[in-house]
Amino acid sequence: MRSETAPAIRLEDYQPPAYRIEKVRLNVDLDPAATRITATLSVEKQANTETGAPLILDGDELTLTGLLLNGAELPESAYTCTADRLEIHNPPAAPFELTVSTRINPDANTKLMGLYRSSGTFCTQCEAEGFRRITYFLDRPDVLAVYTTRLEASRADCPVLLANGNLKETGEVAGTDRHYAIWHDPFPKPAYLFALVAGDLAPVSDSFTTASGKKVALNIYVEHGKEPLCGWAMDSLKRSMRWDEETYGREYDLDIFNIVAVSDFNMGAMENKGLNIFNDKYVLAEPDTATDQDYANIEAVIAHEYFHNWTGNRITCRDWFQLCLKEGLTVFRDQEFSSDMRSRAVKRIADVRLLKSHQFPEDAGPLAHPVRPRLYHEINNFYTATVYEKGAEVVRMLKTLLGDEKFRAGLDLYFKRHDGDATTIEAFLDCFAEASGKDLGQFALWYEQAGTPIVTVETDFNPDRKTFSISLSQEIPPVPGQKDSEPAVIPLRFGLIGPNGEDLELPATGNDAVSQDVLVLDRPVREVTFSNIAARPVLSLLRGFSAPVRLNQKTGASDLLFLAEQDSDPFNRWQAVQTLAMQDLVRLTGELRKNESAQPSKNVVGVLARVLEDTSLDEAFRAQALTLPSEADIAQEIGKNVDPDAVHTARQLLRKAIAQEHGDAFLPFVKDLSPTGVFSPDAAAAGKRALSNRALFYYAVSGREDAAETVWARFASADNMTNRLFALTLLVHDDLPKKDEALEAYLDRHRKSSLAMDKWFMTQATAPGDGTLAKVQALMNHPLYDSGNPNRVRSLLQSFATGNPTQFARTDGAGFQMIAESVLEIDKRNPQIASRLLTSFRSWRALDPQRSALAESALMRISSSEELSRDSRDIVDRTLQ
Ligand code: TRP
Ligand code: ZN
Repeated sequence: MRSETAPAIRLEDYQPPAYRIEKVRLNVDLDPAATRITATLSVEKQANTETGAPLILDGDELTLTGLLLNGAELPESAYTCTADRLEIHNPPAAPFELTVSTRINPDANTKLMGLYRSSGTFCTQCEAEGFRRITYFLDRPDVLAVYTTRLEASRADCPVLLANGNLKETGEVAGTDRHYAIWHDPFPKPAYLFALVAGDLAPVSDSFTTASGKKVALNIYVEHGKEPLCGWAMDSLKRSMRWDEETYGREYDLDIFNIVAVSDFNMGAMENKGLNIFNDKYVLAEPDTATDQDYANIEAVIAHEYFHNWTGNRITCRDWFQLCLKEGLTVFRDQEFSSDMRSRAVKRIADVRLLKSHQFPEDAGPLAHPVRPRLYHEINNFYTATVYEKGAEVVRMLKTLLGDEKFRAGLDLYFKRHDGDATTIEAFLDCFAEASGKDLGQFALWYEQAGTPIVTVETDFNPDRKTFSISLSQEIPPVPGQKDSEPAVIPLRFGLIGPNGEDLELPATGNDAVSQDVLVLDRPVREVTFSNIAARPVLSLLRGFSAPVRLNQKTGASDLLFLAEQDSDPFNRWQAVQTLAMQDLVRLTGELRKNESAQPSKNVVGVLARVLEDTSLDEAFRAQALTLPSEADIAQEIGKNVDPDAVHTARQLLRKAIAQEHGDAFLPFVKDLSPTGVFSPDAAAAGKRALSNRALFYYAVSGREDAAETVWARFASADNMTNRLFALTLLVHDDLPKKDEALEAYLDRHRKSSLAMDKWFMTQATAPGDGTLAKVQALMNHPLYDSGNPNRVRSLLQSFATGNPTQFARTDGAGFQMIAESVLEIDKRNPQIASRLLTSFRSWRALDPQRSALAESALMRISSSEELSRDSRDIVDRTLQ
């Protein structure tokens, strides 16, 4: 027996709601085990709904304790009710009030959806379908209501009572030890944006004056004692608010903006109107426990949730198929914000790295889906890299194709026309078509077709005719279950670089595919010829990674070396270095598998060493260029019959060759580039630390006498988490002397900070070497581990499954089995976290036959379970398909 697959929900079946709910008055009487909710809904039949058509409300694990219609109790014959559905058989034709009472148990809520408790604090998570775990409702994003929320709780346990909108009233409940607060949110919103928080929290307060002069109160609520960790988050919030005014003319719209940090949270954060709730790892930071990456993530997530106020909240999604309408656009906006705050080139490199390592494999495997899917079984499984990251790339392409001005005009029109709407991708694109006068019909395919297009490029220089031609073709690889793809519109930013390293002035081609520095490939094949070209130029294509495609370009090593050193586009300089390294790593892996002697290329070793010393490049950029493709990236490039051990060995070979050849050059970077004195998380200081640590990465395996000691000294003397964690990771992953001492010292120092301990778990889980599996199993019983906390699961198990390819794919199958067992165990308590962990199997078919058979049997074991959640059932079905 296996559990059943949930029915499919299809985009084409969309029907507008039969009833609207215009107003919601909620009374929430908070109690850890028995919270009582009374929801008074102002319901109105839609004009084209037949009189008497049933009103069907969603529920999930609810207990109904009362039901009134226009104040009068409903007889049992007038409705049917189960834990997940309430049907009113014959509602009145005129607007009416329905009063629904439910009782729920927050302490028993381990799914962390709906109302639950995290370290004693009551909090909610309603996206996508959590509100129905609080009360029966039309829980769909196109039902927008104005909410008034009255919260009541013990004053001693919950001095802080928060909900969406503005605070209207507070007071004591006479004759009890309880108090109440009434919040009113004037902006109509879907239920997924509802939130409440109640607990004993401390606020960190500030204010922001909007461009039009309105003063907004800002608060970040955290556990007592953590107030000093909120400075960076508050600073990021104020910069986000200013940036959205200056860049897109978007002002904040309520009197108050609250953020609450909680430790048990399924994802990063949630944009509830006026009351954002965050995973505390995206709020709390101090130099001793947060890395530079943590600081950058906090800045980006704070901005992301804040930007949702316009792209998501004021304008929301008609249905969940349109998820990318808010997520793709908001990711694009937070990426642009971070680019403006930091180095644009370095940010772009980081974003593309993420896209290629997360979204490309998703798009090439069994879980591939379009940016706007047409079918789902469980919506929680569609908060993916494709919807978020590829969705952002599609918006960026729109900007590239239309130009900055028309793009801005289209976005302005979108805000103007759709404010207050629950809308669609079509309506979004219409705004850009109208503002630019362009037909975006073919462009819309980016939302419809899964799979990463492959662009094949050939060039030809004719010295007699002085012409240079570029022939391009595109192909979208077949995606199971998808009809043959049609050609996409692919904007390729490019330049032709002359022998002196400078970009040529591009002569007119008379070809409508080229406008300035963008070549648009919008059909299967295309050829462009440039004339009056005196000497053979080098083509720099896909500058800034202007489209989410794979390039199939037989660029020779000498051209790549030229690009690596000369390209005026920093992204493509980085890309050229990476391509050189990747080509060598793929070759080395192949040779190792054939038991041939494998020697890293001198050229590649040389180019990386030269990057180190190139002071015309900023440190952060050099650190990125010196970071070799990850083992997962190399495996993806190889694509089939992958042996992760060979990949690992190849990467270490190249690393060591660089280190041994240039070891002495690295040492000064290790020593001199660590800024001392007051810590600053700014991009320049972080860049110096990044390059210094990257140098240490090589020096550690340079064979120099003091190599191991240098790493240890760095660990022992580190005065910030970035350096401490980097050195610890080297000690553990390179199996250096004193690694156990270092792990002990770290534990002693940080045992009170769960966020810092997550790094300790992760470092050990991602160590290569046969002992790691047993170590991970032991750590699952560590007193500081907690399988009910999503951050702990991600740090130990998810990082093992996704960040330790050799041990996850062990040839005895024990890595796969351990993850399969954990998935089954976690699934009973928190399906979202289990199904996310399960996606780590998605590239199993690309492994060699022995390993893929082992992965399949682990998947079969999960699949044969009788009590799988809908979330995990959906993922395992599709993964095995
Ligand atoms: N909408 C949120 C964001 O992108 C993320 C989110 C969706 C979420 N579903 C969730 C967060 C469930 C927590 C739990 O910012
Ligand atoms: Zn989002």
